[in-house]
Amino acid sequence: QRSLLGLKELDKEEIESILQRAAFWEQQDNKVNEVLNGKFIANMFFENSTRTRFSFEVAEKRLGAEVLNFAAAASSVEKGESIYDTVKTLESMGIDAGVIRLKPIGVLAELADKIKVPLINAGDGNNEHPTQALLDLYTMRNHFGNLRGLTVTIVGDVMHSRVARSNVYALRKFGANVQFCSPDNMRAPELDVREVSMDEALKSDVVMMLRVQLERHESGKLKSAEQYRAQYGLTVERAAKIGSHAIIMHPAPVNRNVEIDSELVEHPQSRIFTQMANGVPIRMAVIERALS
Ligand code: CP
Repeated sequence: QRSLLGLKELDKEEIESILQRAAFWEQQDNKVNEVLNGKFIANMFFENSTRTRFSFEVAEKRLGAEVLNFAAAASSVEKGESIYDTVKTLESMGIDAGVIRLKPIGVLAELADKIKVPLINAGDGNNEHPTQALLDLYTMRNHFGNLRGLTVTIVGDVMHSRVARSNVYALRKFGANVQFCSPDNMRAPELDVREVSMDEALKSDVVMMLRVQLERHESGKLKSAEQYRAQYGLTVERAAKIGSHAIIMHPAPVNRNVEIDSELVEHPQSRIFTQMANGVPIRMAVIERALS
């Protein structure tokens, strides 16, 4: 039984085996399987989600598991119950694994020490979002065939981005050249990633746009959406400069016409909805790994 808390500490070989298993599940034509019959999995979201929460649920149901969905807003968390007591409560009822999304950083590692069932990180604060990065790697590799030597520029609010962190950790293990293009007040210097201009970013094989995470900003940090778009947005004009082989990615949800122009979300070079589709086989592989 194996938890997945992040990609920083995960071996390249383990990541490779998850990607390969996801490819196997993708070939199964959306069939419902029986591999996790009788297993109970709790999706515990202490922070809102659409893609991660529902793709975990689809993945779990395709594996034949019984799924319990927990939303903090409709639980005793509202009465002041702690995250630990909530997870311990579900564990005491006999769940076999937990998928968990949290706002505070550092809590997940503490929980994993105290809770016996495997836990899967569905996004913890601005620390890591491992399944998002796994589906991003999967999407890139399906398009380019290989990750080694790819130039991937992550554009925008890297300071608040768990997606950026998990992608940096994983892409480096596979020999990709990761760059950031971020505003001065949204940087993550501790990751030691080269900063490039927007013009340079457009020469990349992968232009990965990030959502401006308004909910994590101190007030006043983002002066105006128009100004942000003008400096760091992937506009239609800028997208015309990317290579014909290149792809546009974004973990979503998207702030249309802020970090990416609305017309580009379903552009032929965009892989945004492909990323979402790939979330299901990746999460099937991760859940199966946790319970096998
Ligand atoms: N990409 C992502 O994590 O989306 P959600 O917040 O909707 O799960």
